[in-house]
Formats: sequence, C-alpha cells, structure tokens
Amino acid sequence: MIDKVRLMHVEDSPIIAELIRGMFASEKSISVNIEHFVTVREAMDRLAKGNIDVVLTDLQLPDSDGLNTFNRIYAEAPDIPIIIMTGTYEEEGIALTAIKNGAQDYLRKSEANPDTLVRSVRYAIERQYTKNELRRVSAELSVLYKELKDAYADLKTTQERLVQSEKLAGLVRFSEGIAHEIRNPLGIIIGGSEILEKKLDKADKETKESIEMIKRAAVRASEILKTFLVYTVSRNKASERINFGEMMEEMCSSIKKSKIAPNIKIVTDVAKEDMCVNVGIDQIHEAVVSIFNNSAEAMPNGGTITIKAYKGSDSKILSGRSACIIEIDDTGVGIPKENMPKMFEPFFTTSQRKREGAGRGLFVTKNIVESFDGQIVIDSTVGRGTIVKIGLPPCSK
Ligand SMILES: Nc1ncnc2c1ncn2[C@@H]1O[C@H](COP(=O)(O)OP(=O)(O)O)[C@@H](O)[C@H]1O
Ligand SMILES: [Mg+2]
Repeated sequence: MIDKVRLMHVEDSPIIAELIRGMFASEKSISVNIEHFVTVREAMDRLAKGNIDVVLTDLQLPDSDGLNTFNRIYAEAPDIPIIIMTGTYEEEGIALTAIKNGAQDYLRKSEANPDTLVRSVRYAIERQYTKNELRRVSAELSVLYKELKDAYADLKTTQERLVQSEKLAGLVRFSEGIAHEIRNPLGIIIGGSEILEKKLDKADKETKESIEMIKRAAVRASEILKTFLVYTVSRNKASERINFGEMMEEMCSSIKKSKIAPNIKIVTDVAKEDMCVNVGIDQIHEAVVSIFNNSAEAMPNGGTITIKAYKGSDSKILSGRSACIIEIDDTGVGIPKENMPKMFEPFFTTSQRKREGAGRGLFVTKNIVESFDGQIVIDSTVGRGTIVKIGLPPCSK
C-alpha cells in the first residue's frame, strides 16, 4: 500500500489549495508531502527537477487553460500520474479527453473529500506504474523482435546461399557428365574429318571447305570442354605459402603495364602489412585478370578501376573472419538486380563480343577462389559501378 507520496498541487486559488492540504492532513493512513504551484510554468520547472510522485492540477490557471494545461504538464512529465480537478461541467469533457491522452484520473472539486482524494492518488500512482512497466516491457520486446527479425534474415540468406551453392554443385556435376560424354563423339568427328581431309585430296573446293569447317568447329568445341573440365574436375589445386602483399604488388604492376585502354584509369592500393596466403599464384592471377577484364568491359566510355589488397573483415566474406581481401571496384554500367543470381553460372554472359569462353569468367574465378577456401562476393549498383571482393583465409602461423 502506498503510504508516502510527494504530491504537486497546481492551483491558483489559495482557498482551494488550503482546503486540499487540510484534507490530506486529516488522512492518517498516508503521508502526503505537498508542493503547491500557481502557474503551469512554475509547475513545469519543478517537474524538470524530478522527485514528484503525482500531480493534481486545476485546468484554469493564470498562464494556461483547458486541455492546454494538461498537455503542457504531460509533455514535461509523461511518466508521472496526473489527476485533473474539474470545476464546471464543461471542464469534465476536457478531463475525459485528457484521460484519453494520458491523464490517470479526474476529480470534481465539489466531490473532493479526504477519502476520494487519497483513493484517486493511490490508484493513479498504481496505474501509472503499470503503464510505465508495460511501456518498458514493450520497448524491450521491440528490441528483441528486431533482433529476432535480423537473425531470421541472416538465416534466410545463409539458407539461400546454401541452396544456391548446392544447386550450382549439382549443375557442375551434371555438366561434367555431359562434357565427358560429348568429348568422345567430338574426338570421332575430329579424327574422321582429318581422315576425310587426306582421302579427299582431289575433292572440289566446296567439299574441302566444308570438311575444314567441320574440323575447326569440332576442335573449338573440344577446347571449350577442355577448359571447362580443367576447372571443374581439379578443385584441389596445388598451393603454397605466398606473401599476399608481394603477390598483389606484382599483379597490379603487370596489370598496369597491360595498358588496357587509354580512357581507363587504373588505381592500385596494396597494404604494406605482412600477410600470408596459401594459394596458387597463377590461378589467383587469372581470377583477378578475369574480374579486371569484366570491369574494363563494363566501361565502354572509360572510367576508373581500383584494385585494393588488404587484411580486413567483411560480414559477407568467410563469416566475417579476418581475411586477405582483394577488391576490384569499377565505375562501369553496373549489374541489374535480376542478373545478380546468375553471375556465377557457367555460360551466363551479356557480352556482345563473340569470343571463346564467353560467360565462363566468373564461373571459373569462383571455382579458383573456393578451391583455396576463399570466397567471392559482388556488390553492384546500376549506373554507378561494381565492387568485386575476393577474401582468402590468411595462413595459419
Ligand atoms: N564489373 C562488371 N560490371 C558489369 N557487369 C559485369 C561485371 N562483371 C561481370 N559482369 C556481368 O557478368 C557477366 C558474366 O561475366 P563473366 O562470367 O566474366 O563472363 P563474360 O565476361 O564472358 O561475359 C558479364 O557478361 C556481365 O554481364
Ligand atoms: Mg569475363
């Protein structure tokens, strides 16, 4: 039971103030320490200092009237219970609105007596306490809810990635099977066309050209299969401990020397830190050049390609663990959202140039990076550019 209360009484009539003081004094079950104020301004200044348990206020004051009185006090102390004292019928309507807006109770001046006053004060404090607790619990709940939502989103992306990599692995196994099956008949076609070439030495020009065409097409198809198989079959490539910084310095300078296009600026930034990775230099070189070429192709009107190498962490790479990161940024056309899921699929390309191996760059690159336990991620904004990051696990000391 509440038996000690610090009450603020806001009332401009000295007579009523004295009456109320007397009523509380006559109630022995509770000790009420009253601080009396005449204006809302004074009340607000006092509330700002704290240590008030409940406010009892008149609505009609020298510097405020009606709902405005309640609103101002409530704005200053939303966690302290407010009881409104009404004098007129009209004020009763206002008091009901105030209750809707957060006041705890109202009392008619005509009905005020020691019993109603004390009961109202006790109820108001109890109710406010419950309300504050509810607010606190609901704030806690909303933090928990947000955490839960974030965790769920994380889980979903991880699951999607797993499904995606499982799908890709399935696709790779399937393609490997087909590739092997096709290589045999291709060999027969190439061998057969060579025999025909020799046998039909005196054949007409058109026949000779046809045979030549068949041979060339078959050889090309066989080359494509070969590169594809090389990268899918041998996932575990030989690796050695390499100084990451030195490797990247060399790679950057060789890329810079390649003078890809006069309107493309190349910026490189390799951290001086001592870093070590377990990789095959040639394969990583191939991966970086492949990404670099994609960036160059995405900038037909020129731009900047920035290659960075550093030790850092990225939540999307190796679960946020420390990694040696190669970052290749461009200011090119960017990748439309709908193409993002297809980026690492073999044979996916938007390239207009008809060239051998189109669409295999990123597929092969991903295979290389993952064969050294690394991870590759792409972030892109259409019209702004693309960032490709490769993260490699640092050597264990
Ligand atoms: N930096 C980039 N900017 C814009 N698009 C890119 C970038 N890198 C890759 N792409 C898109 O991904 C596709 C596949 O790339 P890749 O596997 O290297 O094959 P290819 O370069 O032969 O098309 C490209 O055709 C292009 O649409
Ligand atoms: Mg490419």
